Amino acid sequence: MKNIQVLVATEEHLKYVDQVNDAIDIASKERGTGIARRTYEYIADKMLAGKAIIALENGDTFAGFCYIETWGAKSFVANSGLIVGKAYRGIGLATEIKRKAFALSRQKYPEAKIFGLTTGLAVMKINHELGYRPVTFSELTDDEEFWKGCQSCVNYDILTRTGKSKCLCTGMLYDPAWEKEKKEEKKQNGWAIKDTLLDIINKLKPNKNGSQAKKEEGFSLFKSRK
Ligand SMILES: CC(C)(COP(=O)(O)OP(=O)(O)OC[C@H]1O[C@@H](n2cnc3c(N)ncnc32)[C@H](O)[C@@H]1OP(=O)(O)O)[C@@H](O)C(=O)NCCC(=O)NCCS
Repeated sequence: MKNIQVLVATEEHLKYVDQVNDAIDIASKERGTGIARRTYEYIADKMLAGKAIIALENGDTFAGFCYIETWGAKSFVANSGLIVGKAYRGIGLATEIKRKAFALSRQKYPEAKIFGLTTGLAVMKINHELGYRPVTFSELTDDEEFWKGCQSCVNYDILTRTGKSKCLCTGMLYDPAWEKEKKEEKKQNGWAIKDTLLDIINKLKPNKNGSQAKKEEGFSLFKSRK
């Protein structure tokens, strides 16, 4: 059982920037994707701007991190730099961090589409739970600055060869317009609208700590599945 707090990072968390960067660095090397290390200033700016999520065990030991970034004149938001310390993997921590980053993105940029690119099954599963859908790259931002971030990936030649239309990553997108459509449909159909099977499962599915799906900010207890 671990006692982990998942928070929106602030100035008081600047002391963790190097640990965040070191953890991202190690994971990038292990995955062999050659993702560039972010600068101290970059991560620090995210914390100071209230655009980062940090997870701490017992209030002081670094456990995980993620930040949000806008693209295409804030019409798109990506949750990036997701990292969970090795000692904290497999207990649902990335899920909690991404949930919090998703909520923060919705709160700060309610009209923006939220998206991500990943080859990782864990991230695909989490995104799917949050309501993202797999899409072709044509549905993602055309902001050149975003795609420049792929330059340090070992597969970048594939992306250029296909004119940025496809690569090894899966693009996943959440569009707030889907919620509006649902509400509109509800208005038109009255109470009779049906949830999708996935909605129903999500409502019934307990969290990793055994409680019901929706969670408030603050403390979370995670049970190891090992
Ligand atoms: C990927 C990473 C963030 C996952 O963190 P985590 O806290 O272990 O993930 P969770 O425990 O929340 O697991 C989420 C889901 O993914 C599954 N999962 C976790 N790690 C997995 C793996 N290596 N392979 C396949 N599935 C995995 C879990 O079983 C869980 O699925 P479930 O909801 O069906 O049970 C972590 O391994 C990490 O930091 N890796 C290095 C950095 C990285 O790859 N970042 C992502 C960049 S896109």
